[in-house]
Amino acid sequence: MRLSQYFLPTLRDDPNEAEIVSHRLMLRTGMIRQSSAGIYSWLPLGHRVLRKIEQIVREEQDRSGAIEMLMPTIQSADIWRESGRYEDYGKEMLRITDRHEREMLYGPTNEELITEIFRDSVKSYRDLPRNLYHIQWKFRDEIRPRFGIMRGREFLMKDAYSFDLTEQGARESYNKMFVAYLRTFERLGLKSIPMAADTGPIGGDLSHEFIVLAETGESQVFCDRDLIERSAPGEDIDYSADLTSIIEDWTDKYAATEEKHDPKRFEAEVASESRMSARGIEVGHIFYFGTKYSEPMNCKVQGPDGKLVAVQCGSYGIGVSRLAAAIIEASHDEDGIIWPDSVAPYRVALINLKAGDEETDAACEDLYGKLENAGIDVLYDDTDERAGAKFATMDLLGLPWQIIVGPRGLKQGEIEIKRRATGERQSLTPEAAFKRIVDTV
Ligand SMILES: Nc1ncnc2c1ncn2[C@@H]1O[C@H](COP(=O)(O)OP(=O)(O)O)[C@@H](O)[C@H]1O
Ligand SMILES: [Mg+2]
Repeated sequence: MRLSQYFLPTLRDDPNEAEIVSHRLMLRTGMIRQSSAGIYSWLPLGHRVLRKIEQIVREEQDRSGAIEMLMPTIQSADIWRESGRYEDYGKEMLRITDRHEREMLYGPTNEELITEIFRDSVKSYRDLPRNLYHIQWKFRDEIRPRFGIMRGREFLMKDAYSFDLTEQGARESYNKMFVAYLRTFERLGLKSIPMAADTGPIGGDLSHEFIVLAETGESQVFCDRDLIERSAPGEDIDYSADLTSIIEDWTDKYAATEEKHDPKRFEAEVASESRMSARGIEVGHIFYFGTKYSEPMNCKVQGPDGKLVAVQCGSYGIGVSRLAAAIIEASHDEDGIIWPDSVAPYRVALINLKAGDEETDAACEDLYGKLENAGIDVLYDDTDERAGAKFATMDLLGLPWQIIVGPRGLKQGEIEIKRRATGERQSLTPEAAFKRIVDTV
């Protein structure tokens, strides 16, 4: 993409309304724009990041055996009456009346809708287990939407729903999601820690929030420092195998959100130098709830003995849009964003230091063409801005690589490459620079 032809409304100054760094940087880099409280447009640069995050989430869901589908944003109130949640949900639910006076709503989550679909399609235990997911916008009329898309009213969520015959089966489905989440967040360049979370009236130990540590996080969390060093299972993970030992490894140390925190246990189980009390961002939440919806909604299958049994269910959410902000909170410096390679909106920033100079233009065009042909996304600054402003903008945007091309270097047959994360610079021939980048990307 040529910057001269792009739509990138960057801001020179910090916007007043932004309280946290990710919100400030997303506005300054022209990623998002507020349309009303807690509701945002994703401008081209932000949209690219959102799509990349979504794709990684999708790949890891698919790898674990979950099946993608798409449910609508607008739902009928009827199914929420069946589950008994229509009144309970209160003011967070955006209620809509259509022209026939039918009560509708903008879905805040999809347990009811998926349970209805499943109930009407599946009759036998032979069709279990299944895990169905979609990536769809949700609406929750939060009292205090804040921090930009971190806590929005409209936000993009991946939500998966598992259906099993037995509690043991449901536990296995839960474990698969647990592992898929570890892998997803690691691929996004994040260190996430699964923490015991509140299960509400159902009880049990089967709810975890996946937390990314950040000073600006909304959740207070307590954990053993050792957990930060763990790494997720590799992509050769066998989802058909028993995953219990992996889950045990990840849950053997103390980690709890404020609601589940037990100071006595914390002190007894964690050595004082390992005790960590920190702020965190909830990026995912997995939950086993048994027959909470299948029972009242009559989602039953015939078991091997011919008897009807209510299906055992769990739901599994990832805040896809929130992740864009969480990644920035975890990866930035005073000059701007530092995108992990996996989600960077473009992999390379190509900076022409003297647009209009024949030799410089030619060298840039050549590199631009070659990189694009090699399948590498390039944002090419071909404008006639001054060099200092170009450097500042590209540092702000935080693309992983910068290639800097100017007449002075070209006289020596050289251009410069810079790694945004480390600031490390190197002068190379254009051919060597191209090779270096192709080899590392
Ligand atoms: N208002 C919001 N804005 C952005 N992301 C959200 C919002 N609410 C929830 N999410 C994301 O969706 C995931 C699943 O939501 P869920 O656990 O049902 O929400 P909550 O924890 O608010 O009850 C959360 O882990 C979070 O990453
Ligand atoms: Mg939650």
